[in-house]
Amino acid sequence: DKPKVTVIGSINMDMVTTTSRIPVKGETLIGEGFKMVPGGKGANQAVAAARLGVDVNFIGRVGNDHFGEILIEQLIKQGVTLTGVEPVIAESSGVATILLAEHDNRIMVTPGANNHVTPEYVARYTSIIKQSDIVLLQLEIPLQTIEYVADYCKREGIPVILNPAPAQLLSDSLLRNVSFVTPNETEALAITENIKEHEDKMIVTLGEAGVRYKLDQKEVTVPGFPVAPVDTTGAGDTFNGALAVALARGEEIKQAISYANAAAALSVLHFGAQGGMPDAAAVANFLNERKKG
Ligand code: RIB
Ligand code: NA
Repeated sequence: DKPKVTVIGSINMDMVTTTSRIPVKGETLIGEGFKMVPGGKGANQAVAAARLGVDVNFIGRVGNDHFGEILIEQLIKQGVTLTGVEPVIAESSGVATILLAEHDNRIMVTPGANNHVTPEYVARYTSIIKQSDIVLLQLEIPLQTIEYVADYCKREGIPVILNPAPAQLLSDSLLRNVSFVTPNETEALAITENIKEHEDKMIVTLGEAGVRYKLDQKEVTVPGFPVAPVDTTGAGDTFNGALAVALARGEEIKQAISYANAAAALSVLHFGAQGGMPDAAAVANFLNERKKG
């Protein structure tokens, strides 16, 4: 049986404008190019996991608009099971406006239908959650829902990875209920005032420098794989999706982090959040080559 990963989170349409630099206040700039690609931290992490060959269930919502239809079609194509996805009537699908410049990317998310992923909505699909080997959460749906799921999983003994992005202050009870929290350095400072208390579950991503975590009270750094990035959008999502896959397969934490680092490095070589997310063979090849070289 394949491991089962459940992702509960956002689905967005990414509207990506490529530019040489970000305009300043009051300035109009001529952009270089425009593309519309599927995104949303939840959907991205689901796609990352599905490409690596596990069973992925998604719980989330789109609007009853054209974007919603396209986004659902794309997720089905990636092999993600969408039993837990229902459209919201008279609401727009989530949209992310992305300015992609060489050194300075900016993202603005309008949640729309993602705000309707309420605890009551998710409660309809507890049978899916119950069957999971691991559950993956982000912060682009209401915080009460994250708290509800974390509490449910704690009681059911299901491990949870919480990717706290975009960052907001989280309660100690929420942080206690999840198994792993995967902030970047900025997010790590923003999500809790009691960092010491929750240190044992923090997996802090440092970009190219790799990942820092605590094992048996000792700080460990797992180095990353430096590459020349084309588009770093979705690198964190690839990391989280791959981490969930490796942990669901029963890998040790250090090995799981290295696997996730490799998947993330490969993902940034292509445009778009989901563009470049590798399959299992690509990650295995990459890791083998790095061992040899
Ligand atoms: O993490 C990248 C994602 O953040 C984008 O796909 C965008 O939709 C925003 O949610
Ligand atoms: Na990419």
